[in-house]
Amino acid sequence: MNPFTIGIAQHEKFCNRRLEIETLKKNMLAGIHTVVYAPRRYGKSSLARVVTGELEGDMTGIFIDLFSVTSSANAVQKIYRGIISSLGAKAADRSSFAQKMSAIFKKIRLSLEFDPATTAPEFSLSLSDQPAEIHLEQVIANLDEYCNSQAIKVCLVLDEFQEICNLKDAKMVEALLREGMQNAKCVSFLMMGSRRTLLRDMFEDKKRPFYKSAYVLKLSHIPTGEFTVFLEERFAGAKIPISPEEAVAIVNFTDGYPFYTQKLAMLYYELKQAGEPLASACQQLLEMESADFENIFVALTTHQKQLLKAVAAAGPKNLFAASFLADHGLGSQGGIQSSLKKLKTLDLIENTDQGWRVTDPIFARWLLI
Ligand SMILES: Nc1ncnc2c1ncn2[C@@H]1O[C@H](COP(=O)(O)OP(=O)(O)OP(=O)(O)O)[C@@H](O)[C@H]1O
Ligand SMILES: [Mg+2]
Repeated sequence: MNPFTIGIAQHEKFCNRRLEIETLKKNMLAGIHTVVYAPRRYGKSSLARVVTGELEGDMTGIFIDLFSVTSSANAVQKIYRGIISSLGAKAADRSSFAQKMSAIFKKIRLSLEFDPATTAPEFSLSLSDQPAEIHLEQVIANLDEYCNSQAIKVCLVLDEFQEICNLKDAKMVEALLREGMQNAKCVSFLMMGSRRTLLRDMFEDKKRPFYKSAYVLKLSHIPTGEFTVFLEERFAGAKIPISPEEAVAIVNFTDGYPFYTQKLAMLYYELKQAGEPLASACQQLLEMESADFENIFVALTTHQKQLLKAVAAAGPKNLFAASFLADHGLGSQGGIQSSLKKLKTLDLIENTDQGWRVTDPIFARWLLI
């Protein structure tokens, strides 16, 4: 069995992040709403699962993925579904759970049964003919009421939270969720998101409803030392030991980016058994990712492509420096502004203490091939 995963990492497949886990647990238990920013495939969902799994006492985690949300009605459906399936799975008294849910969420039509084999709640729900706005106004307040009546607390995880910005009526959704969040006494919000520019605008723009409404946690990379020890232990535990140097090489090639580190380790675990070197696994990783990179790349304008490649090649401190523009044939400073905005919105590049860089380290390598 391969000891690595490219899915959600939990338990022994999850490396470290103790500090973040403790902070998030403490915040949730204290009712401090929190937003976690990190690039794509950086471990947000895994972290949320680990945190909700470790919540002690009377706090229940409810997990809602807003990734593919299409409308405000769809968003509120997802919220209802997440609430009912999580609370249902934990309900002590199943026979009265359906009645309790119908009594609390008066505005929806709900038919709910428990699967006798899995004991998971199975249900269908419809928003009746009420507009999404009415539901959004009520759903958090109703959940809070329920928690209060049952003397429980809830950690409501809203994964890919930035997706609500893309809805037609985003302003309304933001305002109503914010209101529910502010008034809740027993519900702590844990909002996770990957489009960092969108999220930052949402929480740091004075004109937006969520302005300064939550504790902000920027997820950083997993420290190299922790990640290498983790890799060595996972390989050794699965009977294919690697050297400390190989573990460091895996983390270095992937820049400690959780998804790629797991994936490269996963590939190498197989290849090493066939006598192949780590370089073959690195090559395979690049090949496997290249279709995704091509898709991202072709959707950019020529100037955006040039700027992206130049950032990958030079990692400049100042994107507007005359020498950087001249060296990479990027034209005028004015031209940079709009390409930069686009690349930042897509979270393709980021400004770090060391200078500008391509956010995804394997994409950066691919751009330089
Ligand atoms: N702490 C960790 N230790 C080891 N691997 C991790 C850790 N966190 C995440 N990973 C790995 O990184 C990858 C991405 O994890 P996850 O899906 O949790 O990230 P995400 O930020 O939610 O991604 P997405 O942007 O696709 O939603 C997975 O392959 C997972 O196994
Ligand atoms: Mg995720």
